Amino acid sequence: MQNGRDPLAPVFSVLRDLDGTPPWLRCTLGQPSGVNAGWHKLVAQPIALASGTAVKLVFSCDGAHTTRTVPASDWDGELDALLEQDPHRIDLAGRDNDYHARLSKSGRWMVSRGKPSLAPAQQPAALPGHDRERNHPLPPGDEDVRQLFIETGLFALNGQLRGSANGKYRQVQHYLELLRPLAVLSPEAGAAGEPLRIVDAGCGKAYLSLGLYLYAKRLGFNVTLTGIDRNAHLVAQVREIAQRLGFEGASFEGATIEEVAAAGGSADLLVSLHACDTATDDAIAAGLALQAKAIVLAPCCHHELVHQLDVAVRNGNTPAGLEAITALPVLRRRFAELVTDGLRAAALEARGYRAEMLEFTSPEHTLRNLMIRAEQRPAGAALEPAMAAGYAAFESLRSQWALSPSIAAVVPAPG
Ligand SMILES: C[S@@+](CC[C@H](N)C(=O)[O-])C[C@H]1O[C@@H](n2cnc3c(N)ncnc32)[C@H](O)[C@@H]1O
Repeated sequence: MQNGRDPLAPVFSVLRDLDGTPPWLRCTLGQPSGVNAGWHKLVAQPIALASGTAVKLVFSCDGAHTTRTVPASDWDGELDALLEQDPHRIDLAGRDNDYHARLSKSGRWMVSRGKPSLAPAQQPAALPGHDRERNHPLPPGDEDVRQLFIETGLFALNGQLRGSANGKYRQVQHYLELLRPLAVLSPEAGAAGEPLRIVDAGCGKAYLSLGLYLYAKRLGFNVTLTGIDRNAHLVAQVREIAQRLGFEGASFEGATIEEVAAAGGSADLLVSLHACDTATDDAIAAGLALQAKAIVLAPCCHHELVHQLDVAVRNGNTPAGLEAITALPVLRRRFAELVTDGLRAAALEARGYRAEMLEFTSPEHTLRNLMIRAEQRPAGAALEPAMAAGYAAFESLRSQWALSPSIAAVVPAPG
């Protein structure tokens, strides 16, 4: 810093500090008109991102605003660069003091220090998130959310997103976005403290379901989460994580999905994500047996019908017109996946659910990126025709290819 800027040293020592809860809330820099740095006013604010603390910069020029986010590691250099752009006034709102600095005509900085404009009791305890992140179902600046992501391994112990976990982190947030519209998760029901019984069939490490648990708790639900997995080792691990997080309503059982369906009971929401091959069909059967109001599935590895279509093509037992697809093994495999999930959605329709197909993760990451989101249709005159249409769609696709999919077990012919 040049000598003429020496009086700014105390202001910049506060501004450079981004450790823990930074000692400043907001800083406004102004430039005299005629300076052509592309901005007249700049507001800087420390924020919490999933990747750690950063500074949000909003540049204003002739009524237009542009925003940039600077990671904490680049903030020192960015500040020096901003000072080179000749601001003539700096107003810093700090936690302990406010600072006001003005550049005189003779080129000297005059700095005054005063009481904080926001009294300590009015100051936010935690850093705000970025506007984009503020709407995330699980805001990363929230302490409970941070603990959840640390325990599930997506954040490092210092609360920063691990680079390698970025995809999984976005998947959790996107998963909750896709569940948000479900009637069983309505904020009104949450605010009324209604019970919400969630079953996760094939929960694995359960990082998605633990996120769902916290999200529903935040809405006010009286949540119980039952995670099921046949891998007892994983179940023991997840149980410990839930205990450390204090998620008292979450329990995990080493069992098969079939066992859960056979045990009976009821649930509001059954989720099953990436359960292998026909385990997704078992999960649908479990959701139906538990009379779940909503069933959400992300299918994966569709071996069953790939094999059946291979046999059908080998035996020349295929409907006319699709040879250009089914004669080619790679396309036949993709086609089998579509048929499998189309049959699952139709089966749910036949059982009285409204089934939608959504993209769960970006197709760039995996082709197995579909989500089936199904909700029980309300009783009424429209229910029976919808179920009959679902059955007709199911039977027409199944019989054309003479398929025997596992999911057929839950699709009885209409009585
Ligand atoms: C690919 S992992 C997905 C885990 C988790 N749902 C997720 O999306 O991160 C599939 C899990 O389903 C479990 N699984 C598969 N078939 C099952 C069955 N029939 N009963 C219980 N668990 C099953 C496996 O043990 C495994 O942990």
